[in-house]
Amino acid sequence: MKLTFLGHATILAEIGGKKILFDPFISVNKLASHIDINEIEADYIFVSHGHEDHVYDVESIAKRTGAKIVSNFEIINWFESKGCSNTHPMNTGGSWKFDFGTVKSVAAVHSSTMPDGKSGGCPNGFVFETPEGNFYYAGDTALTMDMKLIPLQTDLDFAILPIGDNFTMGVEDAILASQFVSVNKVLGMHFDTFGYIEIDHQLAKSKFEEANIELKMLKIGESTEF
Ligand code: NI
Ligand code: MN
Repeated sequence: MKLTFLGHATILAEIGGKKILFDPFISVNKLASHIDINEIEADYIFVSHGHEDHVYDVESIAKRTGAKIVSNFEIINWFESKGCSNTHPMNTGGSWKFDFGTVKSVAAVHSSTMPDGKSGGCPNGFVFETPEGNFYYAGDTALTMDMKLIPLQTDLDFAILPIGDNFTMGVEDAILASQFVSVNKVLGMHFDTFGYIEIDHQLAKSKFEEANIELKMLKIGESTEF
């Protein structure tokens, strides 16, 4: 499947003709100033948790495109209160069969307050099973033993993991996470956006290489096939 990195934790996946956007944070990301959010098409917007750097552009893209917002119950209620009506609430441990494949909402160890201080419920990652491949979008999370549950049910082709450290896993923990979920291909996210998460790209890649895992770190706007 084709994946496009739109900066920070924002990924656009194209699966079976459907465009699936994760955690859009573009219009106020200084590193993504060359990306025009009005040109982004989406059929679905998956939201991992309530922090501003994951929800900032959800409302405007959802209203313009009509995309269905998928997230936990509290975050869906928050967007419904803002007039977003095409929504699908899930919560940790639940699965749902969408028209592009099946998604399971899984645990993430992080926090999830909305930008206005309301509760954003529990943070989540998502496991996708699709005819074009299976993957894990971790969201913002620490390394957690719960990741070992994922390969008991799903044979993953790759994982999208945070690698920026400080707020989430860093490179070393992301390598362990890759081993916990049994993948040897990783798309890195949640790095460089803020000073706290600036990382040495070459060092990150070589550490993954030493563990026999391929780490892709895309330029903002760049696409790849997995
Ligand atoms: Ni966060
Ligand atoms: Mn974040």
